[in-house]
Amino acid sequence: MAIPEEIISEIKNRNDIETVMAPYVNLKRRGKNLVGLCPFHNEKTPSFTVYPENDSFYCFGCGVGGDVFTFTSLIENLDYVNAIRLLAERSGISIDDNSYDNSMQKLKNTIYDINKETARFFHNYLMSPDGKWALDYLVGRGLSVSTIKHFGLGAAPDSWDALLKHLKAKGFSINDMLQANVIGKSQRGTFYDRFRKRVVFPIINIRGNVVAFSGRAMPGEDKSGGKYVNTSDTPVYKKSDNLFAMNFAKKDCAERIILVEGNMDVVSLHQAGFTNTVAALGTAFTPEQAKLLTKYTKEVVLMLDADAAGQKAVRRAGEVLADTGLKVRVVLVPDGKDPDEYIKKNGKERFAALLEGAVSEIEYKLLTAVSGIDTEAADGKVKYLNLAAEILAQTPDIITRDIYIGRLSEKYGISSTTFKAKVEELRKKYVRQEKRKEIREVISPTRKSGEVNPEKRSFPKAAAAEECIIAILLQHPDLIQKATQRLPSEKFLTSLNRKIYSIVSENFESGKGVDFSYLGQFLSPAEMGYLVSLQNSDKGERNPEKVLYDCISSLLFENDLKTVKQSGDMSVEEWADNLANIIKNKTKGN
Ligand code: UTP
Ligand code: MN
Repeated sequence: MAIPEEIISEIKNRNDIETVMAPYVNLKRRGKNLVGLCPFHNEKTPSFTVYPENDSFYCFGCGVGGDVFTFTSLIENLDYVNAIRLLAERSGISIDDNSYDNSMQKLKNTIYDINKETARFFHNYLMSPDGKWALDYLVGRGLSVSTIKHFGLGAAPDSWDALLKHLKAKGFSINDMLQANVIGKSQRGTFYDRFRKRVVFPIINIRGNVVAFSGRAMPGEDKSGGKYVNTSDTPVYKKSDNLFAMNFAKKDCAERIILVEGNMDVVSLHQAGFTNTVAALGTAFTPEQAKLLTKYTKEVVLMLDADAAGQKAVRRAGEVLADTGLKVRVVLVPDGKDPDEYIKKNGKERFAALLEGAVSEIEYKLLTAVSGIDTEAADGKVKYLNLAAEILAQTPDIITRDIYIGRLSEKYGISSTTFKAKVEELRKKYVRQEKRKEIREVISPTRKSGEVNPEKRSFPKAAAAEECIIAILLQHPDLIQKATQRLPSEKFLTSLNRKIYSIVSENFESGKGVDFSYLGQFLSPAEMGYLVSLQNSDKGERNPEKVLYDCISSLLFENDLKTVKQSGDMSVEEWADNLANIIKNKTKGN
């Protein structure tokens, strides 16, 4: 059940959006609006915009937006209804507990409980006589029992339903186990344990909750299901937002954090005392993970395997980290080893020395660019210096550029003036390109609407009319009645817009207006962002009533066209006739 609109607006009135945002975003006035750096993605130029006029916000960079409740839900990691509840409590308004739906929060708590019980089950099994095969494996890889306990490592028995039975006995439902993704459902409709005969790494978030698992197959047994089986995204886990062992590393990484590829690398390095190590959970390093790092550390040392995949990962992580302001250095582990093998073979001291030798990202790029090029030959030299010029051109700091221009021109015996001219020319070009990209992103507020509303691609004209109708109704609620009299919600061709329009018209029929915050209960932050961008567009600026009617008739027209297109068995004559009729009606209607 939704929270009644009157209560929501009361809560909203007592929580001024600027005051609520103040601790998190530094806002500066720009015209009638406020702008600042978006707290939800990494950016250097402010695209986070607050519209005090209608108590809403929108980020032109990442597309999220909404009202004071959307903001609170994102920043406090709550669902919308619980964000309303939080602000209600802060302002001393009580919401009857039974009158709203907090089922999502309940589900999350149940999943945490299931995960905790699952971790316990796997750990106990590992330490039991039956789990000897797994313990032998881990100890054989050099892990001590105290490391195993510290990480809460476990093992899944070779069984299709051992965990399922255990959790059932503890009173958990099949559906909740499915939601936690610890069991799966077969095509025949039976349920099975997702982790079988694997050692299991629990993934624990920074608040100490077990949120997911990563299960490694025994050597030689990874044919079915792959080397690792991981928890998919669940209501409590998004792979791209988490880093393995961040719960431990956060205490020891104020100066620097080491980012490696594998779970085993992390465990092994922690055991050796490098407790500031984390791994990216088998995904390409994401901006969300970079953002998490910025909260805890100043410098990231990328320590990746020296194979092609590792080098690609360095490049990708370097790009993602470039936007964060974190210092980035790179270490390539020699001899094609991963950090775990390296430290076992060479010991802590050599590993520490390897870390000290980490090079800056630009040196790393210059080093890898030279591989495979014979710089003794004249054409090889030209090729490499051109690559190097491209790399330097992407370096923002002019002093850094100058230092490397000097070094390279000396090393390769060319004039530094010539090389500098080349680099600076490329730099100008690069900056121009970046500017253009940025402008393109900021110019079009509904640019993201195609992402929020993917059906827009199938019905571009109808969707444009729908957006216009919704924008006008948000800006001029007095026109809702006129719209609902002429346009039933079935006529909307894209389901997102249909949903929004239905909520607006149903709410109107029960005698209410169109409070934006009421809609928030039914929409995601990206969808709310979309609404804010519509609300603040200039669609209804001049003669809104006429524009509304125009949009309604063009939407009805698109409906008719769709019907015609669908009647594939019409003859060409019938089709033309039908079309002529539609067009005649359209002109009459206006
Ligand atoms: P690796 O294959 O390098 O594994 O994958 P590893 O961690 O070094 O394990 P060992 O040393 O062979 O035991 C690196 C990381 O990529 C993810 C895992 O998170 C793994 O730790 N991965 C790898 C998967 O998620 N799925 C896979 O099938 C393979
Ligand atoms: Mn490894």
